[in-house]
Amino acid sequence: MLQGASILLIIGGGIAAYKTLELIRELKKRGCSVRVILTKAGHQFVTPLSIAALSGEKVFDDLFSLTDEVEMGHIQLSRSADLVVVAPATADLMAKMATGQASDLATTALLATDKRVLIAPAMNVRMWQHPATQRNLATLTGDGVAVVGPNAGDMACGEFGPGRMAEPLEIVAAIDALLAGPPAMPAAAALAGRHVLVTSGPTHEPIDPIRYLANRSSGKQGHAIAAAARRAGARVTLISGPVTIPDPAGVETIHVETAQQMLDAVERALPADIAIFAAAVADWRVAAASGEKIKKSGGRTPALALTENPDILATVARHATLRPALVVGFAAETEHLVEHARAKLAAKGCDLIVANDVSLTGSGITGGVMGADRNAVHLVSASGVTSWPTLGKDEVAARLVQHLAGLGAQWA
Ligand code: C5P
Repeated sequence: MLQGASILLIIGGGIAAYKTLELIRELKKRGCSVRVILTKAGHQFVTPLSIAALSGEKVFDDLFSLTDEVEMGHIQLSRSADLVVVAPATADLMAKMATGQASDLATTALLATDKRVLIAPAMNVRMWQHPATQRNLATLTGDGVAVVGPNAGDMACGEFGPGRMAEPLEIVAAIDALLAGPPAMPAAAALAGRHVLVTSGPTHEPIDPIRYLANRSSGKQGHAIAAAARRAGARVTLISGPVTIPDPAGVETIHVETAQQMLDAVERALPADIAIFAAAVADWRVAAASGEKIKKSGGRTPALALTENPDILATVARHATLRPALVVGFAAETEHLVEHARAKLAAKGCDLIVANDVSLTGSGITGGVMGADRNAVHLVSASGVTSWPTLGKDEVAARLVQHLAGLGAQWA
């Protein structure tokens, strides 16, 4: 889908800007046309001359240039592209985008565009991890902005961690996936008047007052689904286990710790039209959690007897009176993905299983799905299997919500 596509590339002011020259080259090689807006800060890192030489197009960099406005106004610039890509998306650009500022050509074009926007963040690790940046990121993904990276690694500033801009070929792959898919922004009213219930994150099962059993779920996928359902006009209740990411804007978020608390909160939130169980609920809890901190005693290790937790998905899918019209479960598998998902569909009594391969062999993701930003899923239902390519979790969320809204006739 890259052949013939028209990309508007906004180059922000970060050291990673040099990689955008390679990005332009790779896009041109694949038959894309690339127009570039270079921000004032971006000028410090790459020159308009090298960009123009590689893109074969004039570089836009001044909101108030009368010649530019006559030749191509900033509104037309933002609309004539198939996709807008911001690379590097600096903390400053992300903050401006999240607050809807229009103080220069880049931010004006971003506010005026009616096309999908992909950002490739790049910044110092502490700037990336700062709650303000994470809040802005949540706002942007909530607005339907797609994100690629950042990657973890050594940074130009000498620190280590997430903040490195995605590599040019990773950005090309993300552009390709976005151009191939449906728009992430489900029709704003697709779920208007519907109540959507989502579970997300891990659960913590206490061993004693300070220790617990848990898993590596970050809540990113479930939270992204809640945000996408909200964008599609639904009233959304999100029941979240302990996570470090912010509550999605406009979503009633109920925080719980244990599986039992999650089940209680889910039952209180019913009725719902759609229930999506994305939480990684602990299968077991400690049968008799200690009221006191368990002490080391004479080299003896304490025996932890476990008991099974209630299955929230199965309980709601089999609810005698309040079963939502669509019940969706998730399945994390490392092998025989689709067969196991089919078995789960029957065992749990739900309408759809979103199966993800947590081993991710061949998916291009290292380090597994839990906590990562991307996901490769298969939708397994009685009517068959649909497989999606590896996508950002926000893109998976948008497509899933769109898919569920499209099943409307079945459950209206
Ligand atoms: O059985 P398994 O844990 O693989 O099933 C995964 C699906 O079931 C997920 O949708 C998860 O949210 C849900 N689940 C649940 N309550 C449990 C265990 C899993 O809702 N106790």
